[in-house]
Amino acid sequence: SGKITVQDLANEMGKTVSEVIKELMMMGTMATINQEISFEIASLVATKFGFELTTADDSETEDEIEKLMEIEEDKEEDLKPRPPVVTVMGHVDHGKTSLLDAIRKTNVTKGEAGGITQHIGASEVKINGQKIVFLDTPGHEAFTSMRARGAQVTDIAILVVAADDGIMPQTVEAINHAKAAEVPLIVAINKIDKDGANPDRVKQELSEHGLLVEDWGGDVIAVPVSAKKNIGIDHLLEMVLLVAEMEELKANPDKRAVGTVIEAQLDKGRGPVATVLVQGGTLRVGDPIVAGVASGKVRAMINSKGKRVKVAGPSTAVEILGLSDVPQGGDQFVEVPSDKVARSIAEKRQQQQREEMLKSSQRLSLDDLFNQM
Ligand code: GTP
Ligand code: MG
Repeated sequence: SGKITVQDLANEMGKTVSEVIKELMMMGTMATINQEISFEIASLVATKFGFELTTADDSETEDEIEKLMEIEEDKEEDLKPRPPVVTVMGHVDHGKTSLLDAIRKTNVTKGEAGGITQHIGASEVKINGQKIVFLDTPGHEAFTSMRARGAQVTDIAILVVAADDGIMPQTVEAINHAKAAEVPLIVAINKIDKDGANPDRVKQELSEHGLLVEDWGGDVIAVPVSAKKNIGIDHLLEMVLLVAEMEELKANPDKRAVGTVIEAQLDKGRGPVATVLVQGGTLRVGDPIVAGVASGKVRAMINSKGKRVKVAGPSTAVEILGLSDVPQGGDQFVEVPSDKVARSIAEKRQQQQREEMLKSSQRLSLDDLFNQM
């Protein structure tokens, strides 16, 4: 475990030599400026000053572990096309859920989905043999919090606007989120079956928010639909595929898996359950992963059709079992080389989280104190 001089120790901590010598004396150790003291003694002194002493060995492995969390850049030749990931946003009651239902139903009646979709916070549909992944959870609150946490999960946003109601406050919010995230937007003008429906007014209002639709000379795709009467849904999905094609979405399936936690909860029987979106690489049952402050080996994976799967490639949403804790929506997950590495990274993160919580609670109590004065 090595030795360190009094001078070096003082320098490391930004303290004066006499401060360190004084502390040593109080511990019953007489030392001069150039004297070497043992690691054990040095760490005791460091602790007194509020520092933690680590050996060179420790910091090296910690660096290595940190490096494991960095995702290496993909080479162009390793990239393969991947399906688009789509979220549906819009004002309250404008028909987001109904639209997703209609999309799934269209798919089921065509006999491609293989049954009723079990809810896992994501669903997959196949249109003309091409896959589209819909994230069910992100209403724009989830969208915002994910973005705030640096997670970008959506390739395309569908903005639902009710034709009888027009642009409302949350519609504007959704437009701004999509703009900020630089996600292409497709407008679904919904409820065109209703008596008071006025798609032209919606187009007018969209233009007032900088979205000029195609038939008005702009480049924003707007599709009139009725989620209730199942009108225009096919056309909407075709437009999604068209935009996806222009985006040239690609990922490298042949590297360790990386992606984002969409949602997670503690299940009574199954323990922590997380719905994750694989964005790069391929996740397999048995892979050790870190997800936020949680770690573990993937014990089982369930796809959007409720079926157990062993492998999940890019643009696949799966529910995973086997985590130690419940991660947060928006957390990144990364496959790591071993169980042990996974645990040690998660432990370090939990420690950091505790320290931050402690700090913020201390700040809070100081604030409380000032408020009372
Ligand atoms: P929140 O999740 O509460 O924000 O609402 P939402 O956007 O998911 O809307 P939802 O799908 O729950 O629909 C709201 C209401 O509008 C329901 O009563 C639907 O039946 C109705 N609705 C949705 N789409 C249509 C449509 O195309 N035509 C008509 N007539 N009604 C619709
Ligand atoms: Mg809804």
